[in-house]
Amino acid sequence: MASELETREWKTVKIERKGDGITFLYMNRPEKRNAMNPTMCFEMCDILDLLTDDKETRVIVLTGAGEAWTAGMDLREFFRELDGNPAGRRKAAAANKEWAFTKLRMNPKPTIAMVNGYCFGGGFSKLIACDIAIAADDSIFGLSEINWGIFPAGGLARVLDDAMSLRDAMYYSMTGEPFDGKKASEMRLITMSVPRDQLIAKTLEVAKVLSAKNPVVLSAAKIAHKTARRMDYWEADEYTMAKSIAMVAQDPEKGRNEGMKQFLDEKRYRPGLGNYIREDKK
Ligand code: COA
Repeated sequence: MASELETREWKTVKIERKGDGITFLYMNRPEKRNAMNPTMCFEMCDILDLLTDDKETRVIVLTGAGEAWTAGMDLREFFRELDGNPAGRRKAAAANKEWAFTKLRMNPKPTIAMVNGYCFGGGFSKLIACDIAIAADDSIFGLSEINWGIFPAGGLARVLDDAMSLRDAMYYSMTGEPFDGKKASEMRLITMSVPRDQLIAKTLEVAKVLSAKNPVVLSAAKIAHKTARRMDYWEADEYTMAKSIAMVAQDPEKGRNEGMKQFLDEKRYRPGLGNYIREDKK
């Protein structure tokens, strides 16, 4: 039976299944360069909930329809049209934060930002929320808020610190100067950049590696890392050890035992060079 993912008429988002448990999630307003309006924020909250529970999805790839990844927040619908409408502003802002900082950043499934073009302003919070980011070399990034009279506020100001050095964040948020995918990779804002004609193939290659891993362990790995990185040493130690025990208890395929058995007893693989064999587990 088709799920709501397929049957609902989405206005600003869409999905595409790529096989191997990989689902592309599109910001889908190509005529507006995928600028994020309130509808997109609400729909992203809903569709990410559905993808989180979707059995066919093991990796979520966030990308943009057409020539842009996203031109950032929609200046007309998210900003100007909500001036004087505090209730509308509050709801849209809450949905914008919710999809970036909760439903994407802490999604139990691995997420990849596949940046296929422009990435401006509010797009950075979604970019940084994804676990891995791969961009075309000629993508254009920009903290462009300063260019139209605001600055990167809200949670964005905070998450810039997760992925940019103080020097880079200050320079680009104060000058609004655009930079390309190669520069974004050099600064480590993204994981890597590749020539445009290799973007999809490289993303699928990485996504396939993730989709072949034990999903319970993968989920614990990303959530534990993102949660622990701001704790002090003792808190992080306690929390990750407890999380690790919970993970082992929740893992139906008992990957830790299986991994050790296949290496130590059966000599079927080498953990340093690749994953234990779980063909029959998926
Ligand atoms: N908000 C609202 N509308 C936007 C938008 C945004 N952030 N970005 C693009 N659009 C709209 C344009 O108004 C235009 O609409 P129209 O066809 O009804 O006139 C359409 O998308 C295409 O934009 P256009 O500027 O003609 O496309 P382009 O390819 O020449 O340039 C950009 C693309 C992204 C460089 C340019 O649109 C731009 O600078 N956008 C704003 C980026 C930004 O600063 N975002 C930060 C927001 S926090």
